[in-house]
Amino acid sequence: MDTKRQIRKKGSMRIDIISCVPQLLESPLNYSIVKRAKDKGIVSIFIHDLRDYASGKHKKTDDYSYGGNAGMVMMVEPVYKIIKKLTRQRKYDEIIYMSPDGELFDQPMANKMSLMRNIIILCGHYKGIDQRIRDHLITKEISIGNYVLSGGEIAAAAVTDTIVRLLPGALSDETSALSDSFQNSLLSPPIYTRPADFKGWKVPEILLCGDHDKIAQWLDAQAIDRTKRLRPELLDDK
Ligand code: ADE
Repeated sequence: MDTKRQIRKKGSMRIDIISCVPQLLESPLNYSIVKRAKDKGIVSIFIHDLRDYASGKHKKTDDYSYGGNAGMVMMVEPVYKIIKKLTRQRKYDEIIYMSPDGELFDQPMANKMSLMRNIIILCGHYKGIDQRIRDHLITKEISIGNYVLSGGEIAAAAVTDTIVRLLPGALSDETSALSDSFQNSLLSPPIYTRPADFKGWKVPEILLCGDHDKIAQWLDAQAIDRTKRLRPELLDDK
């Protein structure tokens, strides 16, 4: 198994997420592993409502696009204000915009990001964001796949969850992040729990034999076989 992944040594990570629909981020980032990591002080996640940085009594964060293309566009000023406020307070490793145009997110990218100290993630909405934000404020654009979501929040939650589970201490058994699918370019082997026999559906005999070396060999072979069958392209660069 490839254990070359660099592991964060010390210090907690800070993730600032900017959104005009912050409610969309609430449950993915407030339960389970991410919640536990926050409670343990491994990561701090701050969600900023872009509306709080909008001017005027209507707190507008979007406007019609120049040139008349259909759809509203996120305005520069509120985004500028929040990003400047944050960057005045601390240095950020990346200021990320979630976008289907961005670099495809994958496990190596997540591993790299898990070593960072502070990142900002901007979630787009409506038709997109004013290009000047991308030109002058954003340092990296990330896509979670070749499809278009209604906004960047679900993508930001996916990226945040993937990074947080890699932070030391986030998972109760640290090796379990190393044995995740993709961590060594292989899918995970099949896993089972009790009962050993459910209505005649049996757990493979070898998993019950108690010989840990034999079981480890079997699991490795299963991972390779599964990857060959289901995602052969993952083996291409091996
Ligand atoms: N926003 C809309 N679609 C997206 C995608 N596929 N990845 C990241 N952000 C997005």
